[in-house]
Amino acid sequence: MAIGKESLKNLFTVGKPKWRTAITRVEPNNIITRGHSQEDLIGNISFSEMVYLLIKGEMPLKKESKMLSAILVSFCDHGVTPPSTQAARLMASAGSKVHACIAGGLLAFGKNHAGAIEESMKALQNYIQNSGPEYDWESLAQNFVNEYIKEDVKIPGFGHRYHYEDPRAIKIIKLAQEYDCIGKHTQLALAIQEVIFESKGIKMNIDGANSGILSDLGFDWRTGTGIFMIGRLPGLISHVYEEKVREPEFRKFFDVEEIYYDGQEDRQLGGL
Ligand SMILES: CC(C)(COP(=O)(O)OP(=O)(O)OC[C@H]1O[C@@H](n2cnc3c(N)ncnc32)[C@H](O)[C@@H]1OP(=O)(O)O)[C@@H](O)C(=O)NCCC(=O)NCCS
Repeated sequence: MAIGKESLKNLFTVGKPKWRTAITRVEPNNIITRGHSQEDLIGNISFSEMVYLLIKGEMPLKKESKMLSAILVSFCDHGVTPPSTQAARLMASAGSKVHACIAGGLLAFGKNHAGAIEESMKALQNYIQNSGPEYDWESLAQNFVNEYIKEDVKIPGFGHRYHYEDPRAIKIIKLAQEYDCIGKHTQLALAIQEVIFESKGIKMNIDGANSGILSDLGFDWRTGTGIFMIGRLPGLISHVYEEKVREPEFRKFFDVEEIYYDGQEDRQLGGL
């Protein structure tokens, strides 16, 4: 039986509200996101503008939308090297459904891979928030690095397993300068780079660069991993698809000769 217009309306108005949201209002035949009808948004704004609007609640300025768009592109893929891509491809090979492979890939995020963006944003935001009105970048950066050294913890957003200089980080910082999107957080990140390069010879990676810029764009650190995910999803999807259509199902990712067993020698149960 078809639902009449009145009863459809009641679906949305009857009873005490149990959920609260400031993101999207849904009415019969009308969907309003952050105050804008989705009919107006579709075809008029870019995907990155929609991401900005959803997460921050306001439309970005043109330069902010160009910056976020570049950040999302910079997160998109890093070949088969990251643990998340490997996990997703292993699952695809085993015959898991696409959404399960992607979920498996996302679950491989950790402090060494993908998790660094949020850690870095949190650290930069806390540091800037708790600093006085004057910024002496050199000593702020030195204190920042000292705190990590004291705890023997690696600084999130710096160093890379494959790159001495992460080409994405260099490009995104250049764009942020061009788009006038560099603020205190990126300045602090750049100052930290000076200090850590001096002592360890390592540079900022893409998470470190983007964490400064996203913080300067006003994104709360709690949104960092989510924004990384938005950028990385197309990469993960293409890897899962490639694995499924190009490689033999349930392929051997390595030979048995490559597996080294160093556990207990063979033994008898005895005495049971
Ligand atoms: C990415 C990462 C795991 C690479 O680690 P790695 O390959 O073991 O790094 P390296 O062996 O090249 O490190 C060389 C030296 O720099 C140090 N180092 C590397 N990254 C460091 C960091 N972020 N902070 C402080 N010191 C760091 C290492 O301890 C090592 O010092 P040592 O020679 O005195 O022992 C590491 O840099 C890291 O944990 N970075 C922070 C997390 C992060 O940003 N991840 C996202 C990567 S895109």
